[in-house]
Order: sequence, then structure tokens, then C-alpha cells
Amino acid sequence: MSSCCEQNTNVLLVTLSAQGHLNPILRLGKSLVSKGLHVTLATNSSTLKNMSSAPNSTGGIHHEFFSDGLPIDYNRKANMDHYMDTLSKFGPVNLLALIQSHPSKFACIIHTPFVPWVSDVAADVNLPNAMLWIQPSTLYQIYHRFYNRLDDFPTESNPDMSVKLPGLPVFHADELPSFVLPSNTFRSFDSILKQVFHNMHKVKWVLGNSFMELEKDVIVSLNNGGHVFWPVGPLVPATLLGKEEDDDLFKSNEDSNCMEWLNKQKPSSVVYISFGTLLFLSEKDIKNIAAGLKSTNRPFLWVIRMPENKELPEYGFLDEIKEQGLIVSWSPQTQVLSHPAVGCFLSHCGWNSLLESVVAGVPVIACPQWTDQPTNAKLVTDVWGVGVKLKKDSDGGFSGDEVGRCVEEVMSGLKSEVIRKNALELKAAAREALMNGGSSDNNIRMFVDEVVSFCS
Ligand code: UDX
Repeated sequence: MSSCCEQNTNVLLVTLSAQGHLNPILRLGKSLVSKGLHVTLATNSSTLKNMSSAPNSTGGIHHEFFSDGLPIDYNRKANMDHYMDTLSKFGPVNLLALIQSHPSKFACIIHTPFVPWVSDVAADVNLPNAMLWIQPSTLYQIYHRFYNRLDDFPTESNPDMSVKLPGLPVFHADELPSFVLPSNTFRSFDSILKQVFHNMHKVKWVLGNSFMELEKDVIVSLNNGGHVFWPVGPLVPATLLGKEEDDDLFKSNEDSNCMEWLNKQKPSSVVYISFGTLLFLSEKDIKNIAAGLKSTNRPFLWVIRMPENKELPEYGFLDEIKEQGLIVSWSPQTQVLSHPAVGCFLSHCGWNSLLESVVAGVPVIACPQWTDQPTNAKLVTDVWGVGVKLKKDSDGGFSGDEVGRCVEEVMSGLKSEVIRKNALELKAAAREALMNGGSSDNNIRMFVDEVVSFCS
């Protein structure tokens, strides 16, 4: 039951305008609303053009917008460096003005990781600050140890070394996130992560998009190491948890054929393939996946995304398998993963896709490419035991034979029963964590109690 103070407590959420950041913080906001808080979400004005719902509120959350210094139509995804630069220049001033002119008095500010300057704004207006960490807790530990130079990591002269960090298994160099490797070429992400981890002493609570039962050892280790790290997830779409509401902020161009086609397939028979929202497969990768699928003769649902304004070329090798499955440019992924016909998920192992797969209880074939994905793939195979990993060739690609081998191993191989059992156990644990009295629900309550105590 909410106290009088809870009903008057207003929390401000702040994020940049990216789907993978907005959706989890919006879901956290909904949890806070359900616990009796008032929630305001502040993001860049550019978010407005992609929003699917009424711009003044979503699920009880009030929306506010501040300028990042760029025109609304500027292509932020294609010019990430420039976007991050202007956002960190104009964001603090505009956010401060928004807070100072807002009719509500806020009790706390919660931000997503790539806007570390929000901690400085929170300090300026004397408000406690929490960060919603949107990747695995494992990644938080790795970056914390790396950016604060607490352990040795691979270097140019020792590029293949393994790393053992508190609460985690041994990671070989190729299982570490690409940003901590000497081969990393994405300097802008490196620089922003460095700022995030150098600013963490200003953050009072870290709320993780994970749950205790999924990453227990590392979460315990983080809390023993002086962090207040409380997992509050999995922050996945409500539809995946069997609720009717549609809580995605962004419009999407789903291919409605998917569900109709899945309805005609046998239970647990379909291989679902998707590589998230950022990666584009090369012709060689598409050809090898097609060859692997053909060798299994199993039905498949395959999302092949192409760069903006480009069409999928008419490859002959895709014609050969067109009767065997369905190829689309976008799918309603959470509905797909919840469908009984889906037997396994060939995934790049982006954190949102993996959490969705865990909540749906679907086994994974891990095909990681960069950033957190190699580390997430290690969790899939060695920690959770819910899938297998595609072995790479010497040139970093993978063969059609390997795709076929992995599909068979997960669908009907010796390990398939154990994999399926582990996946179903994690599915149950994910739901329990969110239920009344579950581990994540308790963490949200603890957080709300602390925030309320600051304003009483
Ligand atoms: C990026 C990084 O690549 C990833 O490594 C990191 O963990 C998060 O940020 P992205 O590549 O987009 O994410 O992958 P992911 O995190 O898996 O998110 C993709 C989202 O798009 C999922 O929520 C998925 O349900 C959705 N999606 C994808 C669809 O709804 N339909 C599709 O056809 C493809």
C-alpha cells in the first residue's frame, strides 16, 4: 500500500533517444508507477518523431523533451559521434532548465548509461541519482574493473590473455567485450564508457536490467565490493510476460505474415534467426546460414535487415530454400519467441534479445559479433547452459556446416534435452523474480522506500 508521501514522490528518468535505452527505462518507470510513484521521462525532442503513443504520457508516465542541439530530422544513428558530442554539450544546460522550470519537485533522477553528465546535473540540483544499467551485470563488472584499472586486460603485446574477475568465470580474450580489447576501433564508445565509470562515485544506486537468479555470483560480488547494485529486471515487453498491454514506445514496421505462418508450423519445430537492430549480414554470412538451414531441412523464420533504402538482392541460394521457411525484414520478435512453434533462436546475443529468449524459455544458438555479444554468448553456453555457440573460421566467419551442426545439436542432439530443461527453469525464475515478493520486485520496493525516505 502506498503511503501519502509515495503518492507525492516524483521521479525523473533521463535517457538519450535510442530504442535500446528508452524501452527498458520506460518499463522501469511503469514498475515505479505501479509502486505508487509519479514518473516523468525526459528525452531528446527527436524521440517524438518515432513515438507510437500519445506524446504527453505512456502508461502513467509523463513525457518531457529537451533539445540535444541537433535538428529533429538529423540522422543520429548514422552519426553517433557527433550526436554524443552535441548531446553532452547541450544536454546538461537544457536538462537543468527543464528541471528548474518544472512544476513538480523531483525526489530522484534515474538515467541510462550513455548520459553520464546527468549525475553532474543531479548534484547541481542536490538530488540523489540512480543509473539503470541496461546490459548484463557481468558487463558492469568487466567495465568497472577495466576502466578503473583494477585488473590486467589483453594488450597489444599480450592480446590473447585470459582474465579472471570477481564473481565471474575465466574469460578468454575472444569472450571479452570488444571495447576492452586492444583491437577496438570504436573510440567514441570507449571514451563514453570511460566517462561513465569515472562518474560512478556520484551515483547512489545502480539498478540492473537483469535478475538475481540469472547473474547471482557477479551481483553478490558487486554488492560486496561497495556498489549498491540492485537488479530490477528482466525489463522486457509486457506481452512476453502474458500481459495484453503493448508497452513499446517506438513504432515498428512488423511483417504481419510471421504469426500467420508460425500458426501453421508444428510445436518447437522452427529455427528463428535475427541479428538485432544494428548489424547487417554480409552476402557470405547469408549464404552460409542458408546452406546450414538447407542441410537441416527444418522450417525457419529469418529476419534479414538491409541498410536504409536498400532491398535484399535476389540471391539464387535463397530461392532454393524459400519453400522451407519465411524471410522477413522485421518481425514482432517477442510474439515470435513466445509462439509454441519456435524451437530455437539463432541470435547475435544482444542483451535485449537474450533476455527475451530467457523469458520465453527458448534455447539459443549464439553467433556473437561485437561489443557485449561475445560475453553474453559465454553466459548462454557456460553459465546458463541454454545453448551452443557457432565456431568461427580462421577468417572470423562461420561455415554452413557449422550452422547445420549447431541447429541439430540444439534441436535434437545429445545436449538438447538438458538445454531445454535449463531454458525452462530460467523462464520460470525470470517470472518469479518479477512477481510479488520476487527478487526484482523486492529490489524495486527497497529502492522506492529509500527514495521516499529522502523526501519525507
Ligand atoms: C545493441 C547491441 O548490438 C547489443 O549488443 C546490446 O546488448 C544492446 O544494444 P541490438 O543489436 O539492437 O542492441 O540487439 P538487442 O539488444 O538484441 O535488441 C534488439 C531488439 O529489437 C529486441 O528487443 C528485439 O525484440 C527487437 N527486434 C529485433 C524486433 O522486434 N524485431 C526484429 O525483427 C529484430
